[in-house]
Amino acid sequence: MGKVYVFDHPLIQHKLTYIRDVSTGTKEFRELTDEVATLMAFEITRDLQLEEVTINTPVGPAQSSVIAGKKLGIVPILRAGLGMVEGILDLIPTAKVGHVGLYRDPETFQPVEYYVKLPKDIEERDLIVVDPMLATGGSAVEAINSLKTRGARNIKLMCLIAAPEGVAQVQQDHPDVDIYLAALDEKLNEKGYIVPGLGDAGDRLFGTK
Ligand code: URA
Repeated sequence: MGKVYVFDHPLIQHKLTYIRDVSTGTKEFRELTDEVATLMAFEITRDLQLEEVTINTPVGPAQSSVIAGKKLGIVPILRAGLGMVEGILDLIPTAKVGHVGLYRDPETFQPVEYYVKLPKDIEERDLIVVDPMLATGGSAVEAINSLKTRGARNIKLMCLIAAPEGVAQVQQDHPDVDIYLAALDEKLNEKGYIVPGLGDAGDRLFGTK
């Protein structure tokens, strides 16, 4: 079963508080989401492999470490996932970015894929799927299905806030995928919102209603 990591770094928790606050406006919400994504990217890349290289400092030769040529990919689930991309790219500027777009069928309530554009060598990349809210888990499961169908083998899921229901769904359908969160909240309400959550992440990021 996939592991769940909740990043309890004080900076992440502090910024998340203001992201949650209903009085935080679009500009600040976007900036804070960006910053938290950067901090989470710092934590999520802890296990990247290093390799030794020889360089010359002004004083002489030295053995030193660099990241071992691992190819990374970021895959936001449209549209709210877009809000986390730039923050991750600040730390990993060479990562490629794919996109998966899903909408919810109004009759079946199931997520339906409407757009997928991915880096060509997706099977060679370590992918970080990003979506601020892991609610029922339906979109994340479908996005990961979509990536696996196209050859992806190494996938992590990074969200700001999850409900236990969403975590359980991803763990059931994709036991190979670890989940990285800033917070694990209490539950979903009858409208499918995470409680206490932050409201609709897409609307808050883009100033829509
Ligand atoms: N999507 C959101 O944006 N917010 C929620 O609380 C649940 C799903």
